[in-house]
Formats: sequence, structure tokens, C-alpha cells
Amino acid sequence: MNILIVGSGAREHCLAWSVLRSQEAAKVYLAPGNGGTKDLDARAENISIAATDTESLLKFAIEKHIDLTIVGPEQPLELGIVNLFRAAGKKITGPTKEAARLETSKAFAKAFMYRHQIPTAAFETFTSHVAAKNYVSQHTYPQVIKASGLAAGKGVIVAMNEREAFAALEEMFEQKVFGSAAQEVVIEAFMQGEEASLFVFTDGVNYKLLPAAQDHKRIGVGDTGKNTGGMGAYSPAPVVTAEVLRQAQEKIIEPTLRGMRAEGNPFTGFLYVGVMIENETPRVVEFNVRLGDPETEAVLPLLESKLLEVLVACESGALAGFDVVVKPLAASTVVMASGGYPDLYQTGKVITGQCHYQDGEDVMIFHAGTKSEHGKLRTAGGRVLAVTSLAATLAESLEKTYDAVSQIHFEGAYYRSDIGHRASVKRFEK
Ligand code: GLY
Repeated sequence: MNILIVGSGAREHCLAWSVLRSQEAAKVYLAPGNGGTKDLDARAENISIAATDTESLLKFAIEKHIDLTIVGPEQPLELGIVNLFRAAGKKITGPTKEAARLETSKAFAKAFMYRHQIPTAAFETFTSHVAAKNYVSQHTYPQVIKASGLAAGKGVIVAMNEREAFAALEEMFEQKVFGSAAQEVVIEAFMQGEEASLFVFTDGVNYKLLPAAQDHKRIGVGDTGKNTGGMGAYSPAPVVTAEVLRQAQEKIIEPTLRGMRAEGNPFTGFLYVGVMIENETPRVVEFNVRLGDPETEAVLPLLESKLLEVLVACESGALAGFDVVVKPLAASTVVMASGGYPDLYQTGKVITGQCHYQDGEDVMIFHAGTKSEHGKLRTAGGRVLAVTSLAATLAESLEKTYDAVSQIHFEGAYYRSDIGHRASVKRFEK
């Protein structure tokens, strides 16, 4: 089979690595890929087409007889890449742009949850600055103020008081810091609890659960500082108990898939349900219509089943009978970032050290912002590498991952030293 993977992050590197576990993958193209995917395997090749250039991607898929395209990030989904490929008779994993509104419009997602009684925080949606200010001043704090559209994980502000709420609304409505993403603004009640990421793979009717994970969205140790794309993850997440999963399936996942079908937009592909869990009760924080990054880099290495076989089973209508087998291990992922991220940072720094491991070593280095230039690997983005390891326990996995991190060097390298802190107190008690 010829596979095309759309995107350039560590998630897409991990998707390619997972797909290449199958000998049936004759050729795996990444558009555009990164410095790590370039030399991943003799069967892998980067092609210089942007993830958002959907017409060129389709042309390439037709020319190269691509059997299956897998979409990593949300932007091409919002642009309708799935609609485009399906109209041309090309197989592609992901939701249509209509179904992708579960992520691309928070206003749509919240109204959808309300229509289908899916547990989430109380909310209102605004297109008027004045009305939004009136609303926040009549409610107690904290309040969560969200740009409705895509804002690279940055359009969410937790306002602790009226001053912060007014400042957030000013940024969204007047300064247009989030551009058209904040033409509509969702204001939600704050939910207490612990967050987790649930991953579902679905053909629209049947679905399979992947291992649950926990992300670390803030830049600073102890979950402080600015939001980022994600600084580390681990899986499985003990906060997702069997009871949490039962409720999530019954009250969130199944009503969501049913609701999307009933509204004429069946959801296909990977659904990422961000939940807040309090007293073993999950409520939806957000939907994403793709795999999470860096959660993917912890979740996919845990699969005993081959990812490509799951995807093919889905395309051939055999997902219901497919058994997704998970290794009885724990995975942790630590993101190494450029100093200064998520604000200004420098690129072009040479990366040295132990950046390659053999298959079967249980340590994996997934590249994000890297490029390979004249035989040297250099930094090329905010999040540079995602370092993952597998072990019998989370504590052992964290030891192994941090040991691998310590053997990679580039000027200004930054990483959080407390990934897994909620699940693994042991490491931090030493
Ligand atoms: N890790 C958060 C995200 O992928 O949106």
C-alpha cells in the first residue's frame, strides 16, 4: 500500500513510525514531514507540499496511486480535505469539514452538546463585545473565555476576576489577537477536576477506544505559565478509571456519534475528547477531530495491534470485528522545546547527542520542529522533539524518558521536569 500522511509534527512522525510497522506499507509519504521523518525508513519520503494545500495533496495522491491518506492536524480538515478526497474517490482518514466543526467551531460543539444532553460546562455564545461584558459581569469567577474558531490551542483564557475577563474580551473583540477565530466567543463556567484526553477511532457507527492519556499544556513546572501545544504526556492515565470510561462511552462518545449521524454529518476518523473528571464523572472540555500532540506519541507506541490494520479494517467496513490490542505497559513523552517557546524563540540550533534508537529499544525520538541541513540536524520550530519510552510502570518509563532527554543537546533546550506528576508522585519524592 502507498500511504500519505499530512502534517509535520511529532504526531505525524509517530503516525508514520506506526504505519511502517506493517510490511504492507510499501511507501509512506509525509507532506511536508520534518527532519526526522526524512530518514525514518527506506520506505519513507518527505514531499514538499504544505498540509493546507489540499488541491496539491489530492493531485499528488492521484499521481502516486496513494491507497490511504491520514490527516494529522486540524487545519486541512477545516479546509475540507476529506470532502475533496472522497469526491475524487480517494480513501482518507478523518472527518468531513462539516463534522470537523466539533473542533473548528466551539460555538457549534457547545450547541451540539446541549442539543444531545452531553455533559459539559454551562455556556453562552457571543458575537457582541458589549453583550459579552454584560454577561461576565453578572456571573461569578473563574470564567472560561474561548475564541470559537481554531487558535492553535491559545484562544482559551481562564479569567479569575472581572479585570481579566474584560481584558480577554478586549483582546478578542477589539484587538483581534485571534483574528477571525474570535468573531464568536464562547463563555463557559469553570469546571473543577483533573483533565484527560480520550481517543476514539470510528467509522461513524462503530468505534474503538485507544489508551487514554494526560497532556501537560502549560509551559512551566507545576502547570504554570502560558498554554502551549503540549509539553508532555503519559498513558494510560490512572485518572481514567473503568467507571470514568464507562460513563464517557455511555454519556459522551456514543451520544456524540449518534448525534452527528442524526444531524446528517457522521463523524469518521479520530475523535479526541478532552474531559474534566471530578468524582469519577467526566464532562467535556473540548472535542478535537484528530489525534492529540503530544498524546499520540505516548498512545500509539502502546498499541500491540498494527495501526495500519485498524485503519484498513475501518475502510473495509470491518472495524466492529477488529480487536485493538494494547501492550500492558506505560508510556511517557517529554517534549523538548526551543528556549522562549511559546513566545519568541530562535531556530537553526544544531542538535547533537543520542537522537536515534533501534527498533525494539523501547525509546523513541519523534521529531517536530527539526530540519536536516548538510548532514546536520537543526531546530526549526518551538516544539523540537518528543521523547517517548515504554516500561512496565509509569515511574520506570519516566526514568527512561528523562534519561534519553538528558542525552540530547541543543542551545536553549527547554523541557518540563515534572511530566507525569499527577500520576507518579514517586519520581518527585526522591
Ligand atoms: N495536546 C493537545 C492537542 O493536541 O490539542
